[in-house]
Amino acid sequence: MLLCSVRGCAQPLTRTGGLYACPQKHSFDLSRRGYLNLLQPQDRRSKNPGDSAEAVAARRRLHDRGLTAPLLAAIQQITQPAPASHVLDAGCGDGFYLASLARLTGCAAHGIDISLPAIDAAARRYPTAEWIVANADRQIPYADASFSLVLSITARRNAPEFHRVLEPSGRLLVAIPAPDDLMELRGAERDRIDSTVAAFAPHFHLLAHQRATTTADLDADAVHDILLSIYRPLQPHPPAAGRITFSLDLLLFAPSPAAPR
Ligand SMILES: C[S@@+](CC[C@H](N)C(=O)[O-])C[C@H]1O[C@@H](n2cnc3c(N)ncnc32)[C@H](O)[C@@H]1O
Ligand SMILES: [Zn+2]
Repeated sequence: MLLCSVRGCAQPLTRTGGLYACPQKHSFDLSRRGYLNLLQPQDRRSKNPGDSAEAVAARRRLHDRGLTAPLLAAIQQITQPAPASHVLDAGCGDGFYLASLARLTGCAAHGIDISLPAIDAAARRYPTAEWIVANADRQIPYADASFSLVLSITARRNAPEFHRVLEPSGRLLVAIPAPDDLMELRGAERDRIDSTVAAFAPHFHLLAHQRATTTADLDADAVHDILLSIYRPLQPHPPAAGRITFSLDLLLFAPSPAAPR
């Protein structure tokens, strides 16, 4: 259930046609594209927060080339033992992973991202899912225990809020870049598994870890799209084309029963 994002309200939103309203009469229009913008001015630091339209389009082209299909398969596999009925993707970008998972598993899909161009792209291509512009680092605009699975795929890490919106038997899947991710462009990095597990304690405990790695021979356009869509520093002379590694550490967590709010 969606909650009102007006500061201090957090009451349920009910939908009448294209209008969502709470009992306090705060209201939000469904956009023409079918997404809801719940971002309040105090919940953003810039006028256009999150990924730019250019970065969203570049990442979508990489997904469309099929480069991330093996990573999607690994995400589906590690989340499969507990089939999820309601899934939240926090920092969903153009919606590729969430909508693909919904197509594969039949789950109800809910994506939030602070970037309007990202949510617009997701809503245009995947109209059957629910797409919300919201800041996943603040209050997530859903009621307690709304989801059986929360995804954070190279995205946000709001442990208390992920815990609140998950059912007690739910699961959290956090995907982080592995040390060899894009190493041809960035050089190898240290692994961030321990620091990520520590960041999610005491709200979550780790159930499983799997590394998903794939390589592809890319032309200059595809390498350029990678450069447009990442924020991490590059090594001094990255190749303009060639074999590139994509690698994620997938961390599957269960909520800890007596976690602090
Ligand atoms: C590296 S991208 C990953 C997108 C998607 N998960 C994927 O793997 O294709 C990170 C995403 O987080 C979004 N983002 C950044 N800050 C955010 C925030 N505070 N709340 C929600 N989304 C945020 C960005 O707009 C961007 O779409
Ligand atoms: Zn309200």
